[in-house]
Amino acid sequence: MKEIMMEQSQRTYLPAAGHDLFLPFYDLLTKLMGGDQARKVLLGQANLRPGQRVLDAGCGTGTLAVLIKRLYPSVTVVGLDPDPRALARARRKAKRAALSVRFDQGFSDELPYAEASFDRVFSSFMLHHLQPGEKQKTLREVWRVLQPGGSLHLLDFGGPKSGAKGFLARFVHSSQHLKDNAEDRILALMRQANFHEPRVAGHQTVLFGHADVVYYQGAVPASKLNAATC
Ligand SMILES: C[S@@+](CC[C@H](N)C(=O)[O-])C[C@H]1O[C@@H](n2cnc3c(N)ncnc32)[C@H](O)[C@@H]1O
Repeated sequence: MKEIMMEQSQRTYLPAAGHDLFLPFYDLLTKLMGGDQARKVLLGQANLRPGQRVLDAGCGTGTLAVLIKRLYPSVTVVGLDPDPRALARARRKAKRAALSVRFDQGFSDELPYAEASFDRVFSSFMLHHLQPGEKQKTLREVWRVLQPGGSLHLLDFGGPKSGAKGFLARFVHSSQHLKDNAEDRILALMRQANFHEPRVAGHQTVLFGHADVVYYQGAVPASKLNAATC
């Protein structure tokens, strides 16, 4: 399957299922390969509290954002993605569930939010869609929009060793995009973006045992000033 980079206002991005044509099957395929379970684990690691503000960066069809709002009704939930088709699906999903979730069109390395806007930022199965330079900028942007004391909760496929072969593997873009997704590399990028003691919070096997998912956590210290000068 040839991957098509879609355009949005002069910029390209890799859409959720690799191509717009496959987007209608994305939720089902992700569920079958263990994605729903993985997002629940990620959410459980975030220790969300009532009244907090949450961003899901690269929210795609909005499954995690809608789940957060369903489980934590008093939390303000915002999802962001460059893909208007995925966002349309996300908005329909929230409407069907009668939940108020805001979905914004944009890129994770140019977040359209003020500094310290969120208590938690989530990113699920998104990082491997970014080019190497975009990853670093994204993590810096996430740090900027997080409140002091806030945290990033990220999950993604592991490096190339976890790549499987066949249709489902191509669906997750294993061959090209996992090359830049090794654990050490992600942790180093988080450190460079000023996250305090970023760590791997867990591993899980998905895709019927063929691929590894890695959970990461990075905290913003109570004083951002100290961290920025480290
Ligand atoms: C595999 S999907 C994951 C979607 C969702 N987070 C989930 O758990 O199902 C990757 C998403 O990243 C989005 N994406 C690609 N490039 C992006 C960028 N530069 N900034 C934000 N999102 C991006 C794609 O449009 C796609 O919706």
